[in-house]
Amino acid sequence: MGDVDPAFIQAAEHRPKLSFTEAQGIPLIDLNSSSYAATKDLVDEIGAACKNWGFFQVINHGVPLETRRKLEAAAARFFAQPPEEKRKVSRDEANPQGYYDTELTKNVRDWKEVLDLTVKNPTIIPASLDPADGELRQLVNRWPENLPELREAFEEYARELEKLSHKLLRLISLSLGLQENRLSGFFNDHTSFIRLNHYPPCPIPHLALGVGSHKDSSALTVLAQDEVGGLEVKSKADGEWVRVWPTPEAFIINVGSITQVWSNDEYESVEHRVMVNSEKERFSIPFFFNPGHSVMVEPLNELVTEQSPAKYRPYNWGTFFANRKLSNFKNLGVNNVQIDHFRIQE
Ligand code: OGA
Ligand code: NI
Repeated sequence: MGDVDPAFIQAAEHRPKLSFTEAQGIPLIDLNSSSYAATKDLVDEIGAACKNWGFFQVINHGVPLETRRKLEAAAARFFAQPPEEKRKVSRDEANPQGYYDTELTKNVRDWKEVLDLTVKNPTIIPASLDPADGELRQLVNRWPENLPELREAFEEYARELEKLSHKLLRLISLSLGLQENRLSGFFNDHTSFIRLNHYPPCPIPHLALGVGSHKDSSALTVLAQDEVGGLEVKSKADGEWVRVWPTPEAFIINVGSITQVWSNDEYESVEHRVMVNSEKERFSIPFFFNPGHSVMVEPLNELVTEQSPAKYRPYNWGTFFANRKLSNFKNLGVNNVQIDHFRIQE
């Protein structure tokens, strides 16, 4: 990654606290996919995990291990290539999907390199950030030509993860007291994407983070982390950072900001971050499950009452997403649009 940019070191607010709680706290939930049925116990467990943590791990989730390993292997091969090779699929302003690293974008915030790929190819999003302007555009994936197996592995993995995400969405709907398929229709033209993350060993682990503290703007995120570990979640109970220890073959699920709005704050999108490691490289693969661009995100009727009125104004998902993609590209960082922007003041 070359020399350390002084701006990185100056970003004091970005420095990790050196301690974290080693907690068993984040629930591990058995989806028991062979006899999958939304039993009351399972729904209750999911509901409690969403409410108390915003995070949980799942096992027996139905995604074949082979499918995951193939994509992990292809991702490792991609990142092992020389920078010139990786930069052949770099993102640019016209297409914010693709490869980037910290040097390339002068993004001094995170110690990582990334390849972003949408699940639907192409994926339709608004062309402009003005919601009144109805023009649309396509995000098209950039496939590394010398690694055809990456595309094949990606497409197989994406199909499996989409199935798992829908299953989780149904369980989350039930846990909120909604009809099982209440949220499913929002994902007809979904804008989900998968990020291949590579965190190289970092010579200044006490000064850097792999990913700074943030919340996901998705409906939910399904993360595969490798055995190195480093993901930490801010505990809702006491605000301490809690490490999510790698559990072989499990996926880590977290509630994103869209679910926070739909549930009218019943479930919250919880802050998390990634620590770096001075010796070991780390790989992770989040699947961000996002609705279609035309969806207006707002607290669901069923969950809004006179006693608990809507806490958010409706916002258009496509515009929000396009805004995030563009500001990430321009590295506006903290100016990223957040759901708090749509919060109704009391
Ligand atoms: C993210 C994220 C966690 C990880 O990309 O939004 O939180 O373990 N990643 O890489
Ligand atoms: Ni995240």
